[in-house]
Amino acid sequence: MPARHARPICLAVLLLVPLPVAADQALIDLGRTLFNDVDLSGSREYSCATCHPPALGLEAHTTNNTYIGLDSVPHGTEGGRSAPTLWGAHHRTQWGWAGLPTIEQNIRGIIVNRMQGPEPSEEQLAALSAYIKSLSLPETPYVDAAGEPTADAPEAVQRGEELFWSAGCATCHTPPALESTAIHDVVGVEVKVPSLWAVRHTGPWFHDGRYATLEEAVRTMWRFHHDRIRQPSEPTDQQIADLVAYLEAL
Ligand code: HEC
Ligand code: HEC
Repeated sequence: MPARHARPICLAVLLLVPLPVAADQALIDLGRTLFNDVDLSGSREYSCATCHPPALGLEAHTTNNTYIGLDSVPHGTEGGRSAPTLWGAHHRTQWGWAGLPTIEQNIRGIIVNRMQGPEPSEEQLAALSAYIKSLSLPETPYVDAAGEPTADAPEAVQRGEELFWSAGCATCHTPPALESTAIHDVVGVEVKVPSLWAVRHTGPWFHDGRYATLEEAVRTMWRFHHDRIRQPSEPTDQQIADLVAYLEAL
């Protein structure tokens, strides 16, 4: 962070940059067009929107299907990967379940490997990334931007948030993005710690969509974490319900 006294200089520099907002909007618009462009795929049948449709069901920018390559497979299939929501992508520090360090690397991999498309240009990658990073998260009336319950949050949400911290969930799902830069093997495959914002919209859960309910996902995480800190423990039904109430408020 720059020291406070440096701020006026930064502002002066910013004012010299011509039309930053207009330039960004043009890049976002180009990205939106590319997002719907089937020419990005080798067969010219698939666009990004095929698997991340903006206007389907819960509109979470995902079909919520599990894929191997371009094929939709049953949830829980070995090697399958659940399509994540693109909402809130600008908050993330790693992309894809494997945890790539930049969104551009992730998108390039999807175009070239998954979609078998032509090598994208730098400009195409910048535009797609700008568009995806412009997709904000939905409103959350019961939690603030740091993931803390608001004053009128239901009691279960408040208890769930306290438990989220006391049960150790926040050590990996760390605010404000509720993720971290770590990779862990929870159920036999090394994946990133996913963000939990909008998690209610992204079921079934885990990297291969193996859990149909948030309850199952939370129970597995509880056991995993407590085994890991060598204090094996089973959650009560009440604890699971409170944690799920909190997650559903995110
Ligand atoms: C066949 C379905 C499919 C298509 C087409 C597709 N995606 Fe995805 N997308 C997925 C799946 C599955 C994942 C998770 C894959 C993984 O991490 O291994 C994913 C992950 C992502 C992520 C990472 C999100 C995160 O939070 O980690 C981004 C960003 C993304 N896709 C953008 C795009 C863009 C841009 C396009 C078009 C160029 C595209 N996708 C086309 C299925 C698809
Ligand atoms: C040691 C790090 C770590 C801790 C502690 C942890 N998690 Fe996770 N969490 C992960 C990882 C890694 C995944 C992805 C697992 C996978 O998909 O195979 C995950 C996945 C999840 C998911 C599914 C997300 C999705 O989009 O599919 C939920 C829900 C979740 N965790 C909740 C919790 C809760 C609640 C706790 C506390 C009881 C917790 N986690 C503790 C690392 C952690």
